[in-house]
Amino acid sequence: MSNQKYDGNRKSNNKIPILFKSIFIGTIIFAIVYFAYYEISNFGFSHMQGHNMMNNRTVVVPKEEPTKTGSVLNENTLTVLTDKLSLERGNEIFNTNCAACHRVDAGGLIGPNLTDDYWINGGGMKNIVRVIANGVPEKGMLSWKAQLSPKQIQETASYIISLHGTNPANPKAPQGEKYTGN
Ligand code: HEC
Repeated sequence: MSNQKYDGNRKSNNKIPILFKSIFIGTIIFAIVYFAYYEISNFGFSHMQGHNMMNNRTVVVPKEEPTKTGSVLNENTLTVLTDKLSLERGNEIFNTNCAACHRVDAGGLIGPNLTDDYWINGGGMKNIVRVIANGVPEKGMLSWKAQLSPKQIQETASYIISLHGTNPANPKAPQGEKYTGN
């Protein structure tokens, strides 16, 4: 069976060398693992995420965050939380880490008033989360993504949103532009 003639050509039915076979199968396995790691799992950054990271004005948004490093935020992290427990946690984080510059009532001191309609970097959940995560280092606002988890950043930002319009005593004068979005 191993040697047949077709149109005068001899066809050999030799086995494919094991080395070639393993390279062939290896490339398939590599492709599956590569795709799963970068495009499906939460561990590798996908092409778009890598692209967004180059532009550090954009919050990096993987599908989920696997660690507590806080270096990644996702779409869920941009949802405003309104439940009591989350706001209490946000309040606690704020008093511990932020009140020194923004005051306990968020009326502003070194940092701006966070309860009024005026925002230097834009108001609303997305901007607030971005500023807390990345900071505005050249203006004295620290980046918190190494200290706070995405969840904690979300809780803190939600807490800040809950303070809107609370009119603290002795507020800092409005800074930035009036923000009308949400
Ligand atoms: C060392 C002082 C300091 C600390 C601590 C600090 N901030 Fe700030 N923060 C600032 C300054 C200064 C600015 C103004 C930045 C600018 O001019 O763009 C600011 C800006 C902000 C803004 C944007 C305000 C706007 O009008 O755009 C938010 C939101 C904010 N801080 C939240 C926080 C939170 C939450 C924490 C704690 C996790 C915190 N800050 C801790 C100094 C601080």
